Amino acid sequence: MSAQLIKGTDIREEILEELAKEVQDIKDKHGKVPGLVTILVGENPASQSYVSLKIKTAHRLGFNEVQDTQPDTISEEELLGLIDKYNKDESIHGILVQLPLPKHIDEKKVLNAIDPDKDVDGFHPVNVGRLMIGGNEVKFPPCTPAGIQEMIIRAGVETEGAEVVVVGRSNIVGKPIANMMVQKGKGANSTVTVVHTRTKDMESHCKRADILIVAAGVPGLVKPEWIKPGACVIDVGVNRVGEKPSKKDPNKMVPILRGDVDFDTAKDIAGYITPVPGGVGPMTITMLMRNTVRSLKYHLGIA
Ligand code: GUN
Repeated sequence: MSAQLIKGTDIREEILEELAKEVQDIKDKHGKVPGLVTILVGENPASQSYVSLKIKTAHRLGFNEVQDTQPDTISEEELLGLIDKYNKDESIHGILVQLPLPKHIDEKKVLNAIDPDKDVDGFHPVNVGRLMIGGNEVKFPPCTPAGIQEMIIRAGVETEGAEVVVVGRSNIVGKPIANMMVQKGKGANSTVTVVHTRTKDMESHCKRADILIVAAGVPGLVKPEWIKPGACVIDVGVNRVGEKPSKKDPNKMVPILRGDVDFDTAKDIAGYITPVPGGVGPMTITMLMRNTVRSLKYHLGIA
């Protein structure tokens, strides 16, 4: 293996330690802690597990963390009422509605009802607009793209003038990370290309990339020969390709996860690479915590 591994699990620990200190410092000086509410509708097992990890992490940092679990029979109107309640609650600085929502609820309507100044997911159109403007306008960068940028910065990868190729154009990863890398500022100032399912020659674009960010959700989409030797490869794909017995409890099955890049061959060509699992994944919740601390700081006028 020649590539340097960029481990999200290690960077997460670094950032959480920094945040814990910051939370304690704000508490000592201002007597306030960040408040985060996570609204979970229904019993989707993946959502339950994400939410429980979010709550556990918030607890570890000394947040006022609230998990509001609602049955999947909740009406859209009731859910909107709940959001209104948390919008007005001064002890809450971050509101997160776990997606997906049941089919009878209009996701867009719900996300748009969250106060943009408490929207720590960064999904509200106001925050999408702020991200597009860049600089000091940005309040809550969306968590996965923010995690990707932080990994690139902390690994010491040069972004200034770099050719960045983003594979995938989703609203939660592809489009925002492309927008962030093209902005002026630290960890950005790059030349960005976005490729997607309708791109004519994906391979030729990927081959040019100094930084290749892959968020397509297709296991093994990026072939090793598409990677420029020495490039930084960020694999956002988390694809379930089967099941295996758990190491902790062999009677329990756990998913086998694969990225969008074939790690075993890519690691001998790339200069830097993120593993799957343990790469970008752990960064998403970490950035959610950072956004919630930021929200408190904005509310206190100390950001
Ligand atoms: N479901 C899967 N990922 C996310 C996320 O980052 N935020 C929210 N709100 N829901 C999700």
